[in-house]
Amino acid sequence: MRRTSVSLPTKHIAHDPHEKPDRYGKNNRDESLIMKMQSAWMSQSQRARYIKTGAIVFAVFLLFYFFSPAGVDLYQGDALANQGQKPSDSSYGTDKCARSFSKDKPIVQYVSMIDAGSTGSRIHVYKFNNCGPAPELEGEVLFKQTEVREGGSGLSAYKDDPEAAAKSLDPLLDAALNVIPDKLKACSPIAVKATAGLRLIGPERSEKILKAVRHHLEHDYPLPVVSEAENGVSMMDGADEGVYAWVTVNYLLGKIGGPDRSETAAVFDLGGGSTQIVFQPTFTGLTSGGMPQKLAEGDHKYELDFGGRKFSLYQHSHLGYGLMSAREAIHATLVNDLYEDNKADQADPAWTHSPVVNPCFSAGMTKTVKVKLPESHPLGATLELNMTGPATAAPAQCRNLAERILKKQAECKLSPCSFNGVHQPSIAKTFAREDIYLLSYFADRTQPLGMPESFTLRELSDLARRVCGGEQAWDVFKSVPGALAELRDRPEHCMDLNFMLALTHTGYEMPLDREVRIAKKIKDKELGWCLGASLPLLSKGSGWQCKVTEVH
Ligand SMILES: *[C@@H]1O[C@H](CO)[C@@H](O)[C@H](O)[C@H]1NC(C)=O
Repeated sequence: MRRTSVSLPTKHIAHDPHEKPDRYGKNNRDESLIMKMQSAWMSQSQRARYIKTGAIVFAVFLLFYFFSPAGVDLYQGDALANQGQKPSDSSYGTDKCARSFSKDKPIVQYVSMIDAGSTGSRIHVYKFNNCGPAPELEGEVLFKQTEVREGGSGLSAYKDDPEAAAKSLDPLLDAALNVIPDKLKACSPIAVKATAGLRLIGPERSEKILKAVRHHLEHDYPLPVVSEAENGVSMMDGADEGVYAWVTVNYLLGKIGGPDRSETAAVFDLGGGSTQIVFQPTFTGLTSGGMPQKLAEGDHKYELDFGGRKFSLYQHSHLGYGLMSAREAIHATLVNDLYEDNKADQADPAWTHSPVVNPCFSAGMTKTVKVKLPESHPLGATLELNMTGPATAAPAQCRNLAERILKKQAECKLSPCSFNGVHQPSIAKTFAREDIYLLSYFADRTQPLGMPESFTLRELSDLARRVCGGEQAWDVFKSVPGALAELRDRPEHCMDLNFMLALTHTGYEMPLDREVRIAKKIKDKELGWCLGASLPLLSKGSGWQCKVTEVH
């Protein structure tokens, strides 16, 4: 009978991983592997058995060693006390502890992230300590932006001069060198992420600029630059931006990167040009007919390795549904309606010369608006109009306009869809109870009116109705400092709130009694993508190595 050897070479036969089980006789064809192993073991001496046991243990150990998760190794719960690293002198360190939690981690780490935006470049330098099993953000030790200038001071402002673009970052980099302790500079990574603005100058120019930036950083500064393979100096797309914001929020909540394994929070970001949604849907326990068992494949799916855990996230960036682009679309819809209604009886659009009633303006407020229409529109590509709010609030009519721009009826290739034909797992079914964080404009338009940290969509709807009511309905805001000034300054506040309601309730299909949270900060730390993009750089294998100081 054939002996089953696990891994050590024996005198009998050479190991052949592809050998057929019946190669050495027909008798054992029907035996299971376990039975074969058992019978092999029975026939051996005690000593051989010990050697074999040792070999198996060794092989299992090796397997664990090679196949253990290689993700971002932020959490190491197994380190022993008193073995951590200590600062080599008093030029750096932390007030929080005298040595790091684990001997593999330095006591403090600095990460620099440059946000190369369309209007300017900004640097964030974060300081972390490794006093505990997971890195703790001590704070943003530097935030600095390039000078505000006509035409912008971002990388794209130097579109034909890549060297000048690279040098435009010097004031930011010099400031970073001032806050990062000398002893740590060679081990403090830096990355540059460019957002949408750089895309607009074309791929050839933007590539040249990013190359020049990398060259400048690598040759003229002591900080290690994250590798090209890990997109150290690169353009970031909407998906990364949304997912990094999700990482920021969930890290600050302590839900990722540490021992907490509770459900993660969803992040809804509302910018000027686009809006992002990121959440980790739960499909387990869903038995209702027709519901998928897991997140469908597609561009919306984002696999994230973080802190040794894998997350299957749903994300989408809805371009053209940021607050400012939504306003434009609502104005255009309203004006086109009026045009269709009036075109029968006149060649000269006299109605454009008198104020137009806009149900999305607060009652009694007026403003001159530049309306952008499609290039081929009979009224021209742009039209200046005076818009005025209705005599009494008309939030329902406003919401109708807002809902129309969502294009709920658009063809849905992969159901279910949220709006505009975009696939999205149902929030009511796959994200029923977990926290939802609304960021940026969501918070900017509600917090100043005295809204609490958490409220339901129904309360948002009440707020919208009140705001649309104009001055005579605003007595409730008298007790909120600054609220009346905010409202009097912005006739579109009624539109903004109704769009947010249409987007969350009609678009994303969140029930009216769904509780949401607004936040600009968590634990006094700013929210945004920068922190989330910096966190992965804390671990080994994230695309950088300590710079070796060259000796000449
Ligand atoms: C808008 O109103 C202002 C001031 O009331 C007026 O001067 C202007 O001509 C109006 N514009 C249009 C296009 O009606």
